[in-house]
Amino acid sequence: MDLFDAIEKRASVRDLQPADVPEGDLKRILDAGRRAPSGRNRQPIEFIVIRDADTIKELSKAQGCIADVSVLIAVAADPEKSEYWLEDVAAATENMLLAITALGYASVWIEGTLLRAEADHKKVLGVPDAMRLMVVLPVGAPAKVAAQAQKRPLKEMVHWERYGSMRQ
Ligand SMILES: Cc1cc2nc3c(=O)[nH]c(=O)nc-3n(C[C@H](O)[C@H](O)[C@H](O)COP(=O)(O)O)c2cc1C
Repeated sequence: MDLFDAIEKRASVRDLQPADVPEGDLKRILDAGRRAPSGRNRQPIEFIVIRDADTIKELSKAQGCIADVSVLIAVAADPEKSEYWLEDVAAATENMLLAITALGYASVWIEGTLLRAEADHKKVLGVPDAMRLMVVLPVGAPAKVAAQAQKRPLKEMVHWERYGSMRQ
């Protein structure tokens, strides 16, 4: 799939079914995350691939919609390695979401619900205390056609040369 198609098709899909995700596809998704930019190229992030059904069930306490998928990718970061760790997590996450979409799977950026019990989820995955566990991405199939959420039109958010100078 063309990059711009993937950008347009990517959507937060919360109605997920299991998909068979071969190792080759999984590696392409992870490689997309690996290739994301990071502040001063410090690369403070780690990916945890979870295929174990019991672990997936445990993590689905954060958000039930991931309970039935066959694979999750968690994104952890070491804040001591870089002051830009949070931006780095976001860049890798978006790269992986686009790769997941381009390969025909569906996902959703799970962060808000995960962080409500980050310490518990870190324990489940054995993430060291000093690290942050920020995001979980399910890799599944959409149960029904899902569209990206409505976005503000460009003309409302693009300022030409100076803030406040909009073109209709
Ligand atoms: C930082 C961040 C945290 C998010 N956390 C969650 C979450 O915990 N659960 C969830 O269902 N969606 C989460 N989302 C997805 C957003 O709700 C979603 O991107 C937004 O509603 C726009 O929809 P779209 O992805 O279809 O464009 C998160 C997105 C971002 C960028």
